[in-house]
Amino acid sequence: MKFAALFALLLHGATATNTCVTDFDADAGVDYYPNKVEFEYASSLSVSYHLNYKKLVFTNWSGAYTTCVVKCGTTLPSDVTGCDTTISPETNKMAITSASMIPYIHSMGMLEKIELVMVGTSSIQNSCVLDLISDGTILATDPAGLGYTWSSSFNTSHVEDEIEFTLTPTYGDVSAVKNSIPFGEWNDPSFLGRPEWIEYLGALTDQEFLAMNIYAEQKNRIECITNNVETIRENYPVDNSGVKVLWATRSDYVTSGGVSHEGWDIATCVEDADSYGGVGPYYCEAATLLGMDLLNTTAGSVNAGGAIYMTNAEFEAYGKDATVWIYNAAFDDDDLTTRFPFITTFKSYIDKNIYDPQKRGMDDFFETWTNQADTFIEDLASITVDAGFLDGDNTPHVSVFYRNVFTEPTGSFGTCPGATLELLSDQCSAISEVYTLGGPAPVASLKVAAALAAFVGGAFLAL
Ligand SMILES: *[C@@H]1O[C@H](CO)[C@@H](O)[C@H](O)[C@H]1NC(C)=O
Ligand SMILES: *[C@@H]1O[C@H](CO)[C@@H](O)[C@H](O)[C@H]1NC(C)=O
Ligand SMILES: *[C@@H]1O[C@H](CO)[C@@H](O)[C@H](O)[C@H]1NC(C)=O
Repeated sequence: MKFAALFALLLHGATATNTCVTDFDADAGVDYYPNKVEFEYASSLSVSYHLNYKKLVFTNWSGAYTTCVVKCGTTLPSDVTGCDTTISPETNKMAITSASMIPYIHSMGMLEKIELVMVGTSSIQNSCVLDLISDGTILATDPAGLGYTWSSSFNTSHVEDEIEFTLTPTYGDVSAVKNSIPFGEWNDPSFLGRPEWIEYLGALTDQEFLAMNIYAEQKNRIECITNNVETIRENYPVDNSGVKVLWATRSDYVTSGGVSHEGWDIATCVEDADSYGGVGPYYCEAATLLGMDLLNTTAGSVNAGGAIYMTNAEFEAYGKDATVWIYNAAFDDDDLTTRFPFITTFKSYIDKNIYDPQKRGMDDFFETWTNQADTFIEDLASITVDAGFLDGDNTPHVSVFYRNVFTEPTGSFGTCPGATLELLSDQCSAISEVYTLGGPAPVASLKVAAALAAFVGGAFLAL
C-alpha cells in the first residue's frame, strides 16, 4: 500500500495546469504568450500567435486542420475564422488514441493529464501508463489488451466533462470525440521534425516553456554528439574511418493476389528539401549528421509495387563487405541465417557486427524513439566510431535502442521511470573542451588522458 501511494505521488507530481485570466480586457493589448514556439523542421506544422489566442495548423496532402487555442479566461475575438477545433486549456485533461503519443506526454511530465486511452493496451509499451490503467487512474477502451482498437470505437462521451480535448490520429472517424486535435509525428519524415512535435503539444497545452526546453536540450545533445564524432574521426582516422554501414532488411511480403514483394530492402537516400529538409529519410539524415558511410542505392531488380528491392544474388554482392550491418527489424525472428546461408559469409556476420533495434523490444523502439532522436543518433554513433568517450566523459555509451544481435538479449520498456520520461541519451560535453587533444594517436591514449582528466576533476571536487 505504501508503495502504491508513493507511486501515485510520483506520477502526479507535475501540474502543467494553467492559471486563467480573471481580468480580461480585450483592448488592453496584453500578450499572454511570453514564450512562442516556431516549427523549424516539422514541415506539416505551423503556428501563429496573437495576443490571447494562437492558431496551430497541421497540414497533410489532403488538407489543413486548424486548432485555435484561446487563453483560458479570455475570449476568441469574434472576427477570427477558420478554427476546426477551439480549446481553452486549463486542466489539460485529455483522451488519446495512439501509443506513439505517450512518450511526448511523458516527456512533459503530463501522464496525469491522460483520462482515457483508446488504443488496445497490448499495443502500449510504456509501463507507467499500463500501471495507471491497471490501478484505474486512466480509463482504457480496451483494458484487457485484446488488441488494437480501431477508430470505430473512438468515443469520449463518458468522459465528456473530464477532458478538454482528444489527440487523434490524422485519419479515421473522430466524430464521437470531444475536440479532436490531430497528432501524428510520423507525418513528418524528417529526423529532427518528429521530436519537434513536443513543441506542438507544448503549444496546445500552454506549456511552451517546458516543451521548448526539452527540444532545445535534445538538439544540443545531437549537435554535441555529431561534433564529437567529427573530432574523433579527425584525430583518430586509423581506428574510425573506412567503416561502411549496410542498412538492409528482408521483405517476405506476398500480396493476397499472390504477387511476390520478396527481396532485400536497402537504404535509399534521396534529396528532398521539402520533406526532409535535406537528404532523407530519417536514417540518411542521421548518417549525414554523423558523417557515416551509409551504403545506399536505388538499384535492385525486384519491383515491389513501386519499392525497389534486391534479389539474393544482388544483395550478397552489395552487402558482403560492409563493416557493420544495421537490420532495422527483428533479426533473429526473421530466421535469416537458416533461410539465407550466404549471409554467414558477410564481413559483418564474421566480425559479429550486426545490430537491430530490439534492445528494449521492437515495439518499444517504434513507440519511443521518434521522441528520443538524440538517443537514436548516439546509438548509431556508438556503433560506428569508438564509443569510449563519445559524449565527452570517460564512460562508454551503453546503447539504448540498438543491440548487437550476437551478444545482447532483447528487452522491454522496463519499470516505470517516474512522472517524467527524461532524455535517454547521455549528457554530452564537447571533447575539445574537456580534453587537450594531441596529434593523431591511438585511441587508447586519449582514453588514458580522459581517465586522468576524470581523476583530476574528481580530486578538485573532493577539495
Ligand atoms: C489529413 O488530416 C486530417 C486531419 O487533420 C484527416 O482528417 C485526414 O484524413 C488526413 N488525410 C490523410 C490522407 O491522412
Ligand atoms: C458514444 O457513446 C455513447 C454512450 O455510450 C453512445 O450513446 C453514442 O451513441 C456513441 N456515439 C457513437 C458515434 O458511437
Ligand atoms: C549515399 O551514397 C552516396 C554514394 O555512395 C554517398 O555519397 C552518400 O553520402 C550516401 N548517403 C548517406 C546519407 O550516407
